[in-house]
Amino acid sequence: MNKILLREGSRICVIQTQGQQSLLDTLRKEGFFVYAPCGGKGRCGKCLVEIRGEGKVLACNYYPDKDIEVILPAKEEAQILTTQTTFLEDLPPVHSRQLFHPDAYGVAIDLGTTTVVCYFVHLASGRILKISSWMNPQKAYGADVISRISFCQENPDGLKMLQTVLTESINKEFESFLSEMKADRQQIQEIVVAGNTTMLHILLGYDPETLALAPFTPAFTAQQVLGGAQTSFLMHSRGHLITLPCLSAYVGADIVAGLAVLRAPQQNYLFLDIGTNGEMALVKGKEIFTCATAAGPAFEGASLSCGMPALKGAISSFESPRNFIVLGEVEPSGICGSGVIDVVAWLLRNNFMDESGLIQQDFEIYPGVRITQADIREIQLAKSAIYSGIKILLKRAGLNFQDLDALFLAGGLGNYIHIPSAIEIGLLPAELRDKIFPVGNSAGIGALQFLRSEMFANKVNWVVQHSQYIELSNDEDFVLEFAMNMDFLK
Ligand code: FES
Repeated sequence: MNKILLREGSRICVIQTQGQQSLLDTLRKEGFFVYAPCGGKGRCGKCLVEIRGEGKVLACNYYPDKDIEVILPAKEEAQILTTQTTFLEDLPPVHSRQLFHPDAYGVAIDLGTTTVVCYFVHLASGRILKISSWMNPQKAYGADVISRISFCQENPDGLKMLQTVLTESINKEFESFLSEMKADRQQIQEIVVAGNTTMLHILLGYDPETLALAPFTPAFTAQQVLGGAQTSFLMHSRGHLITLPCLSAYVGADIVAGLAVLRAPQQNYLFLDIGTNGEMALVKGKEIFTCATAAGPAFEGASLSCGMPALKGAISSFESPRNFIVLGEVEPSGICGSGVIDVVAWLLRNNFMDESGLIQQDFEIYPGVRITQADIREIQLAKSAIYSGIKILLKRAGLNFQDLDALFLAGGLGNYIHIPSAIEIGLLPAELRDKIFPVGNSAGIGALQFLRSEMFANKVNWVVQHSQYIELSNDEDFVLEFAMNMDFLK
């Protein structure tokens, strides 16, 4: 056994190595979560940590065989979407549940693959008392749902580990809220969770393996209700944890909650959440067509050479090589989704890239931060997948772009993206240029409405009953569209 002296910002601690474990595994076991998009397979090159005297190493490829000193990247400050907007319902708080305590609390959770947001609510009044957000600690086991599912398949305790790190991180926020309120865990009476299907499976301890294998059958899609005593959360034993219903393996409760909470007077509209998957729905009067496209983690930065989530140090907006914005007012250390889309649009506009996506050489935005040809290819795959998904929904609904009244963008990227750049690279349809609206955190606000107003459950049920899911994995039309939409059009 060797000693590891760890430095993380001002925090210093000493841990021991355990047998033949990689540094990444050792750190994860000790509760230090290094960003590891490929889940520790040595492919993404992102799990860098500094070893004093040796320089930067990949934590997943480093097996300590002596005492070492490790310097971890400072704690992340993430740009996490928590907002309500006028596009989302704000129902009056009405609930007939019996409260166990005059100051009983509820928590609405938006459980994302990348981020987690908690809305703490005073149940009697419906008032929001606190909003907490943080990076999903499961990111240390892979950036997207597929790498998390593989982690569960490859490790006998994988599911338990992912469930535990998540539950612990949520409980930590509960603890801090309860201590601020000078309240007791018995006062947390209800928890409502919206998230994608994989996240909900892991949260509830269901093996997600079937979600990654055709025919992609979830263990459940319906709303799940657990008694407080059946969960590991700091809550009343007779309280409830409710997960909102999903529609399929890749159209989850985050989309259901988003569709239900959308205040949309329009007749025909699109709803799109761009994340590691492009999950989308087309509402045509009383019919809802949904699908999910495997966009890959390009827009979340994980599969790009200098890509990173929207954290401190990420280039988030780019107008020109002399005019770009870095999150957190520090030196740039990478580029996040909204920045990448801007850069690709700029390269196209200024003829540094042709319509097929070919660039003459890597484009350096800042020393050490560049976009490579391979990055451009990743972006092409992702943007084509999403645009082609939209085309298939239109086709199945028998509509054209002219028939649509709006395109609502959900999720973090959808809200921070620069719409003209997204149109320029062919991610979003130019035909809808004046009808595209970011709506805020629709999944989180949907969970919040469910917690506060019992009328909202009817909206959720309506969405589930009127939705039909279109599986794209072996859809010939989709394959054709996907090939046709790869190029960038000027
Ligand atoms: S290279 Fe180490 S986690 Fe990807």
